[in-house]
Amino acid sequence: MFSLSKLSPSITDMIRFDHSHMMVTFHQYTRDKPPSVKKALAETICTAVDIHAKLEEELFYPVMRQLTSDERVMAKSEPEHDEMRAVIALLRRTDPHSPDHDRLVLDLMRLVIHHVADEETVLLPQAEQMLDKDTLSDLGAKMTKRRLELLTPEAGKIAKDTVVGIAGSTAAVALGVAGAIFAVNKFRKSSAHS
Ligand SMILES: [Fe+2]
Ligand SMILES: [Fe+2]
Repeated sequence: MFSLSKLSPSITDMIRFDHSHMMVTFHQYTRDKPPSVKKALAETICTAVDIHAKLEEELFYPVMRQLTSDERVMAKSEPEHDEMRAVIALLRRTDPHSPDHDRLVLDLMRLVIHHVADEETVLLPQAEQMLDKDTLSDLGAKMTKRRLELLTPEAGKIAKDTVVGIAGSTAAVALGVAGAIFAVNKFRKSSAHS
């Protein structure tokens, strides 16, 4: 019998996909874009960072905390997410015509780059050293399931962002919808052959 977890990408690869998709969306935000597009891009970025942080806190960090005796590695992760959430809250309230909007997007990008570099150089390699492939895939499947739950209320927002001029696929990719749908389809196909 096939299980979704055996076919799922590992949780560490999913985290890397999220990171690169967030960076791609940051790079689409430029000063010369119309304010409505800036707002839509910022909203996509905010939601993507928000959901990603939540997924890590619920599914990845607790596992890592049990594995590592080095407290320092984990100690700053959640406070850094909180810093991002503070900037996200300000950004969501800021008018896209204002220069503050551009500045806050840059502030958020700086925080994300710094945090992601630590995760990719320390935390993810550690997880891959300490956990076997099945466990990493199983956690990946749990992440997909939880992502779909968290995304349900965001579906309307994705449609709205498409209307104001950013490609719907940009939002879908940044939020990890594309990856989640891919994983589910792969599972369905395999089940059909079994
Ligand atoms: Fe993180
Ligand atoms: Fe991350």
